[in-house]
Amino acid sequence: MFHKPKVTPLSQIAPGGRCCMQRRLKTGRRMSGKTDLLSLFKKNYAYNGRILRDSNSRALKKRLAKAIVHMDALEKIGTPIIPYIAAWRIGGRDIWYEYTGAGLKKMLNCRAGDMLAEAFRNNLSRQYLYRKQVDSTLVSKRVLNKKQVEQARRYLRKLGEKSGKSEAIYQIDNGGDTFWMKDIALIESYPESEVVLSLGTLIDVTNEIRLEETLAETKDQLEKHKLSLENMLVKRTAELHDAQLEVVTRLVQAAEFRDDQTGWHNKRLSRYVSIIGKAYGLTKGANWLLYNAVPMHDIGKVGIPDAILLKQGPLTPEERDIIKTHCRLGHELLDGGKSQLLEIAKAIALTHHEQWDGSGYPAGISGADIPLAGRIAAICDVFDALTTERPYKEAWPLADAVAEIRRLRGTKFDPKVVDIFEENLVMIQRIHREYLEKERDGIRPASSDT
Ligand SMILES: [Fe+2]
Ligand SMILES: [Fe+2]
Repeated sequence: MFHKPKVTPLSQIAPGGRCCMQRRLKTGRRMSGKTDLLSLFKKNYAYNGRILRDSNSRALKKRLAKAIVHMDALEKIGTPIIPYIAAWRIGGRDIWYEYTGAGLKKMLNCRAGDMLAEAFRNNLSRQYLYRKQVDSTLVSKRVLNKKQVEQARRYLRKLGEKSGKSEAIYQIDNGGDTFWMKDIALIESYPESEVVLSLGTLIDVTNEIRLEETLAETKDQLEKHKLSLENMLVKRTAELHDAQLEVVTRLVQAAEFRDDQTGWHNKRLSRYVSIIGKAYGLTKGANWLLYNAVPMHDIGKVGIPDAILLKQGPLTPEERDIIKTHCRLGHELLDGGKSQLLEIAKAIALTHHEQWDGSGYPAGISGADIPLAGRIAAICDVFDALTTERPYKEAWPLADAVAEIRRLRGTKFDPKVVDIFEENLVMIQRIHREYLEKERDGIRPASSDT
């Protein structure tokens, strides 16, 4: 990268802690003219700047001379800090160097100070600007091309002239060797000479920046990894969800094939309950659960012997009691599931034959003790049974079925759910007709049908 200057004890540079130039500047002893000052600096500091040569204010020259002495002492004690003094005309574009220590010259492979500005500009490949002058917020800017670098430097100069200091981090490309330098400078304006001085120090921060970039990169990779894990989780959850629905659908089909000749009963039921659920004010998620759970209402019928379930003709009271056990059987079958879907399905299986006045089965519970899902399923189940043909009966006309539901309002059925059912009758009838046409066309439902 760049070479540290050879360490020279301060006593050798300035016997008694201060060199002759420092003493002369300190005492304010007047030099014999600009030639004297210039020749002294040329001799002692290889001065190659412009300010001491040109006719500038004494204040500026004195300040510069003092700063050169201090910076030179700083460099010679062998700190990793590289001092420099740059200058520019107020409103001007060009920067020149008034003092460049060996460190800066070696860093940029430059011999003369005049070449430094050009070399610095040419070797600058990236620049981060940050300012703390206004507030403590780090303002970071990545400069990517030469034009941007030039604009950024002008911006930085203006900012420095206003605030009195300037901070920036540069990436320097020194013949393929890339490193980062942090530049902190005091900016002083001398309007009487129309000159601005930048008293700066550079320090190598390559390791810090690389660490910062590695951290940023790692953070970015972690973020991507997290996102991919989240996506995977969503995908897996969806797959599990689909698998669960698939199992449920197959289970329902197994039960359905035994006493539903057409297979459309559960499809219609899902549509009816979701219309009522939505109108009742259920959330989208709750209504989705209701839609998918209701086909399992009669799943307990898998445990009823065919001789009773498929019997043509009237059932004996004993046979009727056996049929009634399908509620508890379904509940047991669905018990132990951990999903909300199975929880709701279980409640519906157990309570879809309960009645509002407590005269239903299997528990004889009443009113709001019957879960809402069970109350909604009960109305839709009866309505669909009435309006469709079964082996033991004809389909009722729609008006008669609606009248029957209305008649049972407050006894068999929840009055509020009956009201919502009637308010949404147009949609319910449309669904009834839609499926009737499918049945007439001999279409059988697939598991994905709705
Ligand atoms: Fe049932
Ligand atoms: Fe049913």
